[in-house]
Amino acid sequence: MEVMLLIIFMAMVAPNHATDYDIMKFGAKADGKSDDSVAISNAWQEACKSTSPSKVIIPKGNYMVGPTKIQGPCQAPVTIQATGAQLVAPEDPQLFKSQNSWFQFQTINALTMIGGSFDGKGELAWKQNDCAKTGKCGSIPINLSLNKLTNTLLQDVQSIDSKQFHMNILGCLNLTLVGTKISAPDHSLNTDGIHIGRSSGVNISMADIKTGDDCVSIGDGSQQVNIEKVTCGPPGHGISIGSLGRYQNEEPVVGITVRNCTITSTMNGVRVKTWPGNPKPGVARTLHFEDININNVSTPILIDQEYCPYNHCTSKNPSTVKLSDISFKNIRGTSASQLAVQLKCSKGIPCENVELSDINFTYQGVNGSEALSECKNVQPKLSGQLFFQSCGEPAA
Ligand SMILES: *[C@@H]1O[C@H](CO)[C@@H](O)[C@H](O)[C@H]1NC(C)=O
Ligand SMILES: *[C@@H]1O[C@H](CO)[C@@H](O)[C@H](O)[C@H]1NC(C)=O
Ligand SMILES: *[C@@H]1O[C@H](CO)[C@@H](O)[C@H](O)[C@H]1NC(C)=O
Ligand SMILES: *[C@@H]1O[C@H](CO)[C@@H](O)[C@H](O)[C@H]1NC(C)=O
Ligand SMILES: *[C@@H]1O[C@H](CO)[C@@H](O)[C@H](O)[C@H]1NC(C)=O
Ligand SMILES: *[C@@H]1O[C@H](CO)[C@@H](O)[C@H](O)[C@H]1NC(C)=O
Ligand SMILES: *[C@@H]1O[C@H](CO)[C@@H](O)[C@H](O)[C@H]1NC(C)=O
Repeated sequence: MEVMLLIIFMAMVAPNHATDYDIMKFGAKADGKSDDSVAISNAWQEACKSTSPSKVIIPKGNYMVGPTKIQGPCQAPVTIQATGAQLVAPEDPQLFKSQNSWFQFQTINALTMIGGSFDGKGELAWKQNDCAKTGKCGSIPINLSLNKLTNTLLQDVQSIDSKQFHMNILGCLNLTLVGTKISAPDHSLNTDGIHIGRSSGVNISMADIKTGDDCVSIGDGSQQVNIEKVTCGPPGHGISIGSLGRYQNEEPVVGITVRNCTITSTMNGVRVKTWPGNPKPGVARTLHFEDININNVSTPILIDQEYCPYNHCTSKNPSTVKLSDISFKNIRGTSASQLAVQLKCSKGIPCENVELSDINFTYQGVNGSEALSECKNVQPKLSGQLFFQSCGEPAA
């Protein structure tokens, strides 16, 4: 009877049993010096051809890996199991001439990646390219790009010390990132932690992000994005929607929720930024920020429709990116500058339906101990406990 049950059980399980493709069987050396990228892509290609769910195994160890493409479409779901694996980029940036990012995941449905630490070796590339001084880091392709992925999960993936690194999410549908860890030093320019663009159904939770630029940035065409339980900084620039309005043909940003996050010693907390003089009208709406702890952040809440870094805007015409249905709720902590809340909306199209509820920042500084707020071209709806009465007016 028991044997019978066992057979039935095995028959039920067998078709779903994942086939394993261990990269060691595909010639990986794991000595931290030989390039293991061919072993990884060969194991991937076999797994991807499998008609039943399969697994690529990257065992615990140290792997030097050159530019690598993990390309679909695949026949069935594939899991990359990389817990304890350290993937280290070659130090020489010249090796990246062939593709513009280090690891490219592309056109895959139902991918799961578990674990894996990506070390971009950015510091050396950064020194060689002198990009701190010039601000031009474009030739350093240390980058994890996630392109056209659907129904994908990345769990406990880590990226460290990558100059010009970003985890770039483009054209994805239903992508979940859980437990992502990112760290890069303060002096790494333009290293957004996670950038999302033209994607829908992206959920990021329990991430810990310390980097030289935005912790998470949400570009045009992002819809239904949820960011939860993320800690940002130090260092970093906070969580940003935008910048928007710099390019032609930008798509609307709709339905972004940032909740239960902690932001520490960064330049900004939560912000929405749009360029003035944008080539075509744009839209960003239903943006919600709630339950956010702020520690020592220079501008904890910011809407900036006059965003013009390094004076790079071509026109001073007011932004025509329409911002509406935006709420900031239960956001508290310490501001590192006196002006804690700045809502600078476009004088061309004022912001519409902006709500501030339960907002309280304390400030201790050279100019006194009163945090301040400022509003331009917006009349926010105020409710709950606020450290000011109306924009510009501190609470009595
Ligand atoms: C990072 O990836 C994105 C898209 O995948 C690309 O546009 C960008 O140039 C890459 N950055 C670098 C430095 O390679
Ligand atoms: C994305 O997820 C939603 C529900 O969570 C589902 O309705 C939709 O079919 C999914 N999209 C794709 C491309 O699988
Ligand atoms: C993302 O989270 C939201 C809210 O928790 C949920 O409704 C949605 O189904 C999630 N999407 C994915 C792709 O898991
Ligand atoms: C999220 O909320 C829970 C419960 O209030 C809290 O313990 C946790 O620290 C919060 N997480 C972040 C990242 O703020
Ligand atoms: C506040 O943040 C700044 C960086 O913006 C940092 O230099 C400073 O040490 C932080 N102060 C505290 C008390 O953490
Ligand atoms: C203090 O006030 C001066 C004059 O208004 C201003 O320029 C400066 O940025 C303020 N400092 C801080 C830390 O807010
Ligand atoms: C803001 O927070 C401070 C410090 O926690 C507290 O003393 C003050 O009463 C709060 N103000 C409001 C309006 O809630």
